[in-house]
Amino acid sequence: MDRAGNGKAAGGQVANGIGQGADNSAGRGPAGRAGARSSGSALGPRGRGLFGRLMDGLRTPPAPRQEATSIAIASGKGGTGKSFLATSLAVLMHRAERKTVLVDCDFGLACDHLLLGVKPTLTLQQLLAGQCTVEQVLLKTPCGPRLLPGASGVRRMANPSDKDLTAFARELGVLAEQEDALLLDLGAGIAPATVLSMLGADWIVLVTQPEIAALVDAYAVIKSVGQIKRDARFLIVVNRVSTPGRGEMAFQRLCEVASQNVGAELTYLGEIPDDDSVMQHRLGQLPLVVTDPEAPTSEAVRGLSERLIQICGGIRPRTVDGDAGIRDRFKQHRLFL
Ligand SMILES: Nc1ncnc2c1ncn2[C@@H]1O[C@H](COP(=O)(O)OP(=O)(O)OP(=O)(O)O)[C@@H](O)[C@H]1O
Ligand SMILES: [Mg+2]
Repeated sequence: MDRAGNGKAAGGQVANGIGQGADNSAGRGPAGRAGARSSGSALGPRGRGLFGRLMDGLRTPPAPRQEATSIAIASGKGGTGKSFLATSLAVLMHRAERKTVLVDCDFGLACDHLLLGVKPTLTLQQLLAGQCTVEQVLLKTPCGPRLLPGASGVRRMANPSDKDLTAFARELGVLAEQEDALLLDLGAGIAPATVLSMLGADWIVLVTQPEIAALVDAYAVIKSVGQIKRDARFLIVVNRVSTPGRGEMAFQRLCEVASQNVGAELTYLGEIPDDDSVMQHRLGQLPLVVTDPEAPTSEAVRGLSERLIQICGGIRPRTVDGDAGIRDRFKQHRLFL
């Protein structure tokens, strides 16, 4: 698909033009809101999407451009350690000199700001409502990476509308043109917006635990995504492992079931030990990889981060076809949900 290598400029950013549809003319923030408004039609959002796709076939495709590598951090069961891993990875990627934005996509129950020690005043909620620009919402965290904070305790955000998702995809597209890495910390499970985020990302880091209940739920995620995107790329992390090596055993079990039933590509990224110091870490403190780099979990997460960078081709901006960026992938897959 859109894996044309890393780091080489090819055409730069594309100006909006004939090749981009009506809602591509939307910029950021208030302009974005205007774009979202213009997406309403008698056909409704899904009908318009289908119509838009048919029209896309008649347009000249936009030129290739540079985009960040996007990585969704997902799980089947809740509480497997996604946010712990996502915030740690964001810090480590920043330290590895990758321009990184962590997007808290746990719609309605966001918490990454607490783990990174910042207090947002604006969140994804105001951004998607067109009340501010993405630059206004982005927060520089004390450890370096920038955070696009999510809304917490906002019921409406827990179930984003079609219009919200269109705006979300557009803002991710804007960010992708500026960054090296976009990390999407998702909510657990297979809610439509969560599955869509997995479908739209380049890679999915699926965080599970060694227990059978967590593995069953991880398999449910692989199946749900694999049915729609056969070439989805999953990187499996087994967290809270009490005996070294149990992570790889759990991964083998997952592979056996998945290979029989879905064709998705699974790669073992590694295991993280169960470590009381993670639990004891207070909210508002900086991540453990910063405050206690020698802790067993910190060492494990550092190893995962290095492998992740290697597997994902260095995590540098890479060239994507003009109609195959993250925003376009969200747009395409929305039709299947
Ligand atoms: N390796 C670990 N050892 C011990 N505790 C851990 C470990 N990883 C995560 N935890 C703890 O597990 C709990 C859940 O972690 P976290 O919030 O990161 O999970 P999550 O997958 O993001 O949850 P949710 O599905 O609610 O978003 C937290 O209290 C965290 O401190
Ligand atoms: Mg979480």
